[in-house]
Amino acid sequence: MPTITAPRGTRDLLPEEAAAWNRVEAVARDLSRRYAFERIETPVFERVELFARGLGESSDAVEKEMFRVGGARGTDEERAEWALRPEPTAGIVRAYLQHGMHVRPGPLRLTTTGPMFRYDRPQAGRYRQFAQWDVEVLGDPGPAVDAELVELAHRFYAEIGLSGVVAHVNSIGDAECRPAYRRALVEHFRPHVERLTADSRRRLEVNPLRVLDDKALDPELAATAPRSIDHLCDACREHVTAVLGLLDELGVRHEVDHGLVRGLDYYTRTAFEFVVEGREGQQQALGGGGRYDGLVELLGGRPTPGIGFGIGLDRTVIAMAEQEVELAAAGPLVAVVGFGDDHADRLRVAAALREAGLAVRPDGSARKLGKQLEAAAKAGAGWAVIVGEELARGQVGLKDLASGEQRTVALGEVASAVAKPA
Ligand code: HAM
Repeated sequence: MPTITAPRGTRDLLPEEAAAWNRVEAVARDLSRRYAFERIETPVFERVELFARGLGESSDAVEKEMFRVGGARGTDEERAEWALRPEPTAGIVRAYLQHGMHVRPGPLRLTTTGPMFRYDRPQAGRYRQFAQWDVEVLGDPGPAVDAELVELAHRFYAEIGLSGVVAHVNSIGDAECRPAYRRALVEHFRPHVERLTADSRRRLEVNPLRVLDDKALDPELAATAPRSIDHLCDACREHVTAVLGLLDELGVRHEVDHGLVRGLDYYTRTAFEFVVEGREGQQQALGGGGRYDGLVELLGGRPTPGIGFGIGLDRTVIAMAEQEVELAAAGPLVAVVGFGDDHADRLRVAAALREAGLAVRPDGSARKLGKQLEAAAKAGAGWAVIVGEELARGQVGLKDLASGEQRTVALGEVASAVAKPA
């Protein structure tokens, strides 16, 4: 019978990768606490309209990559209505408005971690289901919080053990200065439309900033393109100057990237992405974010500034493997072995050791002791606790599976004995 495989563009997290994922999630959780972010969870599917309005009709996420879902007896109408979230920001802002969170003392600092879905052509580092750690701040116009978030992401990469991570930063202006910049881009590209891809030609009319995001853009046209930073209004220029100054003062590694425009339409002013130096290319962004001062209003609320980032955990874990980041070994694993069918004793001993905090695998077989010890070593146990007659006196055998040394110890002493390095 043919075997069933996972859907294209998805990844199974196998035990070999678990230590890296555990580290990444633990650091994200701990930093969320230290930076005073509160947890929020929103559904993994929402109305298509939320994404269309929030992320923009011309964003790839909406135009090409919506992962639509319907009910079990899904009608075409339902399929048109729902989509798996391509990102969490729109859903978080939807929840913020729906629950009247604007009346809470702000700025609000919210965080979530979970799966996102983009129905794209899968390739290395680009999946149809991937995980993000996301943080959002609502109600803070910056610029200090802009620098704080870039610093936070930078600290995240440092604490998980990645090196060479650089923040690429740009300002893409706001409603005041963007129109003039868009005109400048159109003027620059229009005489050369024949050198643009079909996608870019269409975008030139709808959203010319996205032309800069085209990976197939002629390098010469890209290099000579007008830079948004030269077209900012006074307020936006002051803002980005302050953000860059703060990053300098904080010693956060960054560079201004004039081609950085981000793929979602809600961004204003500060935009940033994180890449490992020498591993460049948009596909390789380990995370990104920016300011979205118009999004709350766009989704029906009062004008409220917002800023956040999403860190792609799959790409982060892959980069850790590439850099061979050392992961702390898990605590000692203890096997509990015994004689014949003394399973009640083995399980009782296992329970007592677990209560003392140890990771324990009891052997559930009746095979010979030697076979049980062999299997324990193969399974990665560093120690075997041998349950025998001495259990009546509260004692067990403790065998160091690496050295083969064995002694008798009180059950209550096993935890401290295995915690000491051999
Ligand atoms: P984004 O740049 O679209 O931003 O995604 C953030 C990160 O998610 C990317 O840098 C990348 O690491 C990862 N990612 C995106 N798409 C894929 C994919 N198909 N496969 C694997 N990883 C992927 C956002 O999503 C914004 N919501 C970030 C944000 C929050 N801006 C403000 N607040």
